[in-house]
Amino acid sequence: MLREKTLLFLPGPTPVPPRIQAAMAMPMVNHRGPEFSALHGEIARGLQALFRTREEVYVLPGSGSGGFEAALVNFVPAGARVLAVSIGDFGDRWARAAAALGYRVERLEFPPGTAADPEALRERLRADTGREIRAVLITHNETSTGVTNPLAELAAVVREHGALVLVDSVSGLGAMPLEMDAWGLDVVFTGAQKALMLPPGLTIIAASARAWAAAEEVDQPRYFFDLRPYRRGHRDHSVPYTPALSLLYGLRESLRMIEEQGGVEAAWARHRLLGAMCRAGVKALGLELLCRDERYASGSVTAVKVPPGVDPNGLRRVAREEFGAVLAPGQGKLKDAIFRIGHLGYATPHDVIAAVAAVEMALVRLGHPVPLGRGVAAAQTVWLDHLAAEKGDRT
Ligand SMILES: Cc1ncc(COP(=O)(O)O)c(C=O)c1O
Repeated sequence: MLREKTLLFLPGPTPVPPRIQAAMAMPMVNHRGPEFSALHGEIARGLQALFRTREEVYVLPGSGSGGFEAALVNFVPAGARVLAVSIGDFGDRWARAAAALGYRVERLEFPPGTAADPEALRERLRADTGREIRAVLITHNETSTGVTNPLAELAAVVREHGALVLVDSVSGLGAMPLEMDAWGLDVVFTGAQKALMLPPGLTIIAASARAWAAAEEVDQPRYFFDLRPYRRGHRDHSVPYTPALSLLYGLRESLRMIEEQGGVEAAWARHRLLGAMCRAGVKALGLELLCRDERYASGSVTAVKVPPGVDPNGLRRVAREEFGAVLAPGQGKLKDAIFRIGHLGYATPHDVIAAVAAVEMALVRLGHPVPLGRGVAAAQTVWLDHLAAEKGDRT
């Protein structure tokens, strides 16, 4: 096996395109000088297009989890009640982060593999007659289960109540539809190592005018994740601390790539295709998906139930060692119940075909009989049908 050509089918970190790697090799510049202003300005515009917002988008050194903290400490008063809507491990983590920061956390949980139900959310918020809940925490795409929440509907329900809508779109933004302004999302954050095709290391966050108005009365202690100095300096392309310059060069290149390939809507369509191919492939092998409802199936990552009698660690080990394909394990309660195939960021239909082929071969090696090529053929068929439909649309 050529180790350098290991195929990374993780839902982050995802492979980094050579073009972005090259961009990140740029020499350092003065982050208080004119080159930085140009870099910052271009990134700021590109991110607004990606977030579908007219608000400013800030880029901080950090990771996705930095967004958990920044979204709370800037916009929710100390000790306030928040409602954490959780459909999996990352929803749980955000709830734990909120509790660690001293917020009074209520939870609304849904079983793994399902999306949050807007009606259940409405009921819960209606019970809050004293309007004590100041913010609702929602995961856009739950990476641990491969489920995408009906974010527009959930946000509309929160609007009826009046709390802020805080959204973790770490593995959703740039892969699945998200309309920050049109859907009334108050805070949206993401990380670098998912649909943006970068190495890890950035927290990227935007807030609505409503969120900024609410921020006026926020007394929560904060320093590194205080967004106010970012906001004050934004128009002058000034950031409070030394920025992660190499990653910013990479981010500029990533935004250019997304734009050149048809913009964010084209990226959404590509991920939709990748998800559909992957699901068709694994289902054709007789494997079961964790997410049974196609409407909420993720375009970033597919969670597959480990078939009875198959050792999940063995499956991933064989896929990695014998076929050079890195699959992701289940997380938390689902550790041994599922494996996950990431298909986001720098991913093409060929990658999905390779991932399904590796799963087929690993299962055969483990003595679990699957008909070789059946999953691959199903994935190919989805791709061909997609092309035919696209060509049909054009004529
Ligand atoms: C949905 C979601 N939220 C939050 C995170 C945490 O991001 P990070 O590991 O970059 O801190 C992840 C990471 O995979 C994620 O998928």
